[in-house]
Amino acid sequence: MPPPEFTITDTLFPETADLLFVNCHLATMVNGSLSIVENAALAVTGKKISWIGYQKNLPDSPERLASQIIDCRHKWILPGFVDCHTHLVWAGSRSTEFEMRLKGIGYEDIIRNGGGIFSTVRATRDATQEALFSQAAKRMATFLTQGITCVEIKSGYGLDMDTELKILSTIDRLTQNFPQHIEPTFLGAHALPPEYKNRPDAYVDLVTRTMLPRVKDQGIATAVDVFCEHIAFSRAQTQKIFEAATALGFRVKLHAEQLSDMDGAALAAEFNALSCDHIEYLSAEGAKKMAQKQVSAVLLPGAFYFLRETQKPPIQLLRKLKIPMAISTDLNPGTSPVHAMTLILNMACLLFGLTCEEALAGATLNGARALGLDTKKGSLEVGKDADLVVFDINSPADLCYLMGTSPVAMVVISGKTEYTCAP
Ligand code: NIG
Ligand code: FE
Repeated sequence: MPPPEFTITDTLFPETADLLFVNCHLATMVNGSLSIVENAALAVTGKKISWIGYQKNLPDSPERLASQIIDCRHKWILPGFVDCHTHLVWAGSRSTEFEMRLKGIGYEDIIRNGGGIFSTVRATRDATQEALFSQAAKRMATFLTQGITCVEIKSGYGLDMDTELKILSTIDRLTQNFPQHIEPTFLGAHALPPEYKNRPDAYVDLVTRTMLPRVKDQGIATAVDVFCEHIAFSRAQTQKIFEAATALGFRVKLHAEQLSDMDGAALAAEFNALSCDHIEYLSAEGAKKMAQKQVSAVLLPGAFYFLRETQKPPIQLLRKLKIPMAISTDLNPGTSPVHAMTLILNMACLLFGLTCEEALAGATLNGARALGLDTKKGSLEVGKDADLVVFDINSPADLCYLMGTSPVAMVVISGKTEYTCAP
């Protein structure tokens, strides 16, 4: 059965438009459904979407009303992808570790022997601010060509005050230099640094008493994340960090139940977390608490694939409880070195069993919701930010089907054309 057509509420064509897209098809993603409008037109005034309608309903001679008209020749427009969970700023490479894992050595064993996250921490501590920025800048540039218009970026490869601030100020510099909207997250509790070996509570004190207040003072993070796992921080330690973070006014989110059930999701729900991320080992009780507090689920199929996990997140339960499902690249050097949102969409469908519509909602509106930005971003609606992508595809399902390719023709962010693919 074809999806129901989107009902267009009558809005008057604006007095002036800066951009007018004509001859396009839209998958608006309103309320997380494809909400398709075929043979459509879309106008942008300033930084916002100002009109959406059928081509046939455009006023006569629209060229009088719009500064620039873009003939899409039947291409599709979707809201820009919102990548709500990344660790995009790091130095070094983990390809040697990848080869070790191919020989059968486990991810957790590598971490226990001082590699894994710790090898990235060493490289990131040693990197100059300039080197860190230039490597991260390449990743941001690639994201733009993928149609990712909004990105969350976590710190967490510093694990000392100076390096965590170096990462957060690199994120700030990316914000100044790239058109994408960036949400910076402080993940000082990503792993226990070697200098605090056997003294985890002392490190938690450093995070809560020194790092969090400094990060707050500098205004360089909007949320706080913790890796709650037996190879990282316990539930009780996570709770201490959440207490300190919320007291300072940060929203919280959690790397929860990735490798085992730590009852982290229930804790995150108590703190009204924005999202619980990974959640392969989420329990029914944890999911219920998430649903009660409307905490978003962030699914990260890239990490599941790369670690060759077998335990899948409880998708059927999430659906039943109507927990919004976001999907994200989790771009990081250890478990998900992937920049291609179309590959993640494909994995979400084939590995986790999402429908194309669910996967696309996960990478747009529900991604925005996981960042608390869904009133501004994530769907094509009049009054929302004009963050949109023109795709050279035959149907929205192509974005899930064409694994890893980038059929992006044009990327518009805040009403400005920021990337055009050479014909
Ligand atoms: O999201 N789970 C913890 N953090 C990252 C991986 C970190 C690493 O291995 O460098 C993740 O999978
Ligand atoms: Fe992560």
